[in-house]
Amino acid sequence: MTTNKVSGVPRRELLKLSGAAATAYAAGPLLSACGGAAAGPVKAGVLLPYSGIYAVLGESITEAMKMYLDEIGNEAGGRKIELITEDTEMTPDVAQQKARKLIEQDEVDLVAGIVSTGVLYGTRDYFDASKKLLICANAGGNKISRDMKTPYIWRASFTNWQPNWPLGSWAYENVAQKVFMSAPDYGAGHNMVDAFANSFQAAGGEILGTQFTPFPAMGDPAPFITEIQGADPPMVFCFYSGGAAVTFVKAYGEFGLSGNIPLVCAGFTVEEDVLPAQGEAALGAQSGLHWALLLDNAVNKKFTAGYKERAGKDANVFAVQGYDTGRVVAELLNAVQGDTSDVNKMIDVMPGISFDSPRGPFQLDAKSQNPTQHIYVRRVEDVGGALHNVVIEDLGAFTDPGDDSLG
Ligand code: BEZ
Repeated sequence: MTTNKVSGVPRRELLKLSGAAATAYAAGPLLSACGGAAAGPVKAGVLLPYSGIYAVLGESITEAMKMYLDEIGNEAGGRKIELITEDTEMTPDVAQQKARKLIEQDEVDLVAGIVSTGVLYGTRDYFDASKKLLICANAGGNKISRDMKTPYIWRASFTNWQPNWPLGSWAYENVAQKVFMSAPDYGAGHNMVDAFANSFQAAGGEILGTQFTPFPAMGDPAPFITEIQGADPPMVFCFYSGGAAVTFVKAYGEFGLSGNIPLVCAGFTVEEDVLPAQGEAALGAQSGLHWALLLDNAVNKKFTAGYKERAGKDANVFAVQGYDTGRVVAELLNAVQGDTSDVNKMIDVMPGISFDSPRGPFQLDAKSQNPTQHIYVRRVEDVGGALHNVVIEDLGAFTDPGDDSLG
């Protein structure tokens, strides 16, 4: 029998105390270590876009992060958790100003968030210099797990390599042997295309052409769709997200490409946040991602039902990442028993964090500082009158390689 002890009192005795009393008793020595009752709540800064083409991503992450924290009574490691949110817009400079405000004025204990790779790259040096922990809730820029790695940035999301590299060889075997590729012209777009191309070409595939569209605003999609039509490929691979995903996929439909040229994409392109606006144009699109609304596991069923009740709409992958970011913050605080005074101790416990997520098994990898997770192939289908991503294959668990050898 385990007699797990907190401050010398067997856990079974602690459990007899009422919830609040037990928490106070358990946290007592820790609160003194962090400055006694004055330690107060853990302040977590949240840096997300609440305007621009990725605004819905930021809102989904925030809502689900709050949902997870509500589920645990907004408390972990014996301390209350308080969120301070700031709008990064889509701009690295704005994000850096907001990060500075959170860290230097609000004196937050840690920061969570960041959606765009450009914003992540633009704030990386500031987090590194200020030695403040950032739990990234979306931005997948590969470099942060590779040559721009810093001990202060960990991810609860993905690297841009992760969903696309397994998809490349899958598409070669299951869809077509030649492809035309389209993505926004910034770090994430280049990462996604490189990862897909790497395994597609290794399997024997041929790239007919690649276009990079203006970012963040694509403008008129017509010239880009016309270029694709002109290349007459047997398959298109693309990555878009948020407002740009709606623009691209709707134009793909309006120009008559949907249903005629198979669309294979990074799953963000046809995620649940954009499907209602894309409508029939998205039907049949096949994509790779680390989650799907209809993924059949108990944690996902509870999460998707709870999110729908709370937000009044279906969950999406960004919400899952927000939920898991909340969980990573809580697991971290539990592991250091609420003591946020030593960032090195917080970093030390990160690789031990693993749990069952709505996406399946989630485990933080020490080398890439990013989750090892399953990648699913999904297809957009009509499910009882609404379009959703149906899982057609589980490609297994993938860890970012930590270097550029595979794209
Ligand atoms: C990125 O910039 O890394 C990103 C943005 C939206 C979806 C996926 C990745």
